[in-house]
Amino acid sequence: MLRSFSLPADGQDSVTARQSEPSDLSVTRGVCHRSALADAVHVRLQRGPNRQRLLELQAALDAHQTLWRPSPFHVRRPDWCADQPELAEAVLGLDDRTLEKLAHDPDDCRDWLTPRLPVADTLGRLANLPPLPKRDLPAMPPRLDRRIRGRKRAQIEAFAAHSPAAHAPLLEWCAGKGHLGRRLAFADQVPVRSLEIDPRLCADATQLAERAGIEQTVLCADAIDDAAHAQVKGRTVVALHACGELHRCLVRRAAQAGAHGYRIAPCCYHLGIADAYHPLARDSSLSLDADAIRLAVTETVTASRHDRRRLARDQAWKLGFIALRNQLEGEAARTFRPMPARWLSGDFADFCHVLAHREGVDLPAAVDWTHWLAVGEQRRAEIRRLELVRHAFRRALELWLVMDLAVGLEEAGFEVQVGSLCDRSLTPRNLMVLAQR
Ligand SMILES: C[S@@+](CC[C@H](N)C(=O)[O-])C[C@H]1O[C@@H](n2cnc3c(N)ncnc32)[C@H](O)[C@@H]1O
Repeated sequence: MLRSFSLPADGQDSVTARQSEPSDLSVTRGVCHRSALADAVHVRLQRGPNRQRLLELQAALDAHQTLWRPSPFHVRRPDWCADQPELAEAVLGLDDRTLEKLAHDPDDCRDWLTPRLPVADTLGRLANLPPLPKRDLPAMPPRLDRRIRGRKRAQIEAFAAHSPAAHAPLLEWCAGKGHLGRRLAFADQVPVRSLEIDPRLCADATQLAERAGIEQTVLCADAIDDAAHAQVKGRTVVALHACGELHRCLVRRAAQAGAHGYRIAPCCYHLGIADAYHPLARDSSLSLDADAIRLAVTETVTASRHDRRRLARDQAWKLGFIALRNQLEGEAARTFRPMPARWLSGDFADFCHVLAHREGVDLPAAVDWTHWLAVGEQRRAEIRRLELVRHAFRRALELWLVMDLAVGLEEAGFEVQVGSLCDRSLTPRNLMVLAQR
């Protein structure tokens, strides 16, 4: 339930955050002098490993935009196929077995691509972050986490184990039922306030806190509002999978908010972007919109076999429809709006009829559905091969977004560490930013 919102058109928020440095400036006779401390901080930020990684990722992404920006779903043949015919021929010539292997193993894919696309190796190096240091936690009494589903419980344990002990009260941001907050409050023996917008989840969190006998208060509020941000002062903020602008708004305000520290495991980077992505770090300059950012979250590593099969079928149907429409109306770049899931619950012909109605396409009385479905499947096979190249940039784009957060926090005066908190099979959104004053 990400409330829709927009940044001020003039980017006021981000400008304010970006201009504010640890301020140690003095003014003498109208001349502004930076003190030795401010100079030292500035030099540290300039040379810091996070900023260095941000800039290297940015350079690699910037120089190879033609390879990752166009989605082969929307363009019949991305332009790079003409510029790099040998690479195009190699991916399009892959047999099904090799394709499956490369599509599901990013390391294998990088090794296969590197001789044909040397930047793949650079991307692999830049996108590879070591795990964060881990600590031992007191085991959670079973009665306290009985109601947490398996995968979520494991994510919470991983987040808690890779968070340094909190010495200030906690603020759990976009808390859901407050499971993480309760876990950390129990481990560190500090009170927690859990902020969440959904009243039903707030009610569940309150009930669970009462049963657990943990010092947890629940605040039903919108994370975008000033009142929510007023809660940050003097607290350590923990955010597990707060989507897009919901985690970025913490960083935009970090210079003034007075938090003790932040532990952020971000997700859904594309959500909450109205027009364009407004970077957090001063030197971040990739120009992105929500569609471009979506590339960072397209993995299906945790999807079940059934869900993957279903996704494959849905994609083939959409591509079959597009091919049929192109045959009837001529090929043109047209947007493909989302559709209700129930449209995909009948057969291919039903799907095409309902979609043609919405799109204003006149279908002939007789259509060879078997043929157009086969065309859709053929197109999908082609797209999956072309996407291997695009997907080689996916983790690097995610890392760039995470380093933008990290450097934004450094510029707001925090010491920042970035690393992974668990294997990607537990959640592909397994990166965490730890910031401490
Ligand atoms: C992906 S869930 C993560 C929940 C929890 N942190 C966890 O990991 O289990 C995102 C949560 O953000 C909440 N949320 C969405 N928009 C919000 C907003 N504007 N303000 C506060 N919470 C919001 C949702 O209701 C949801 O519980």
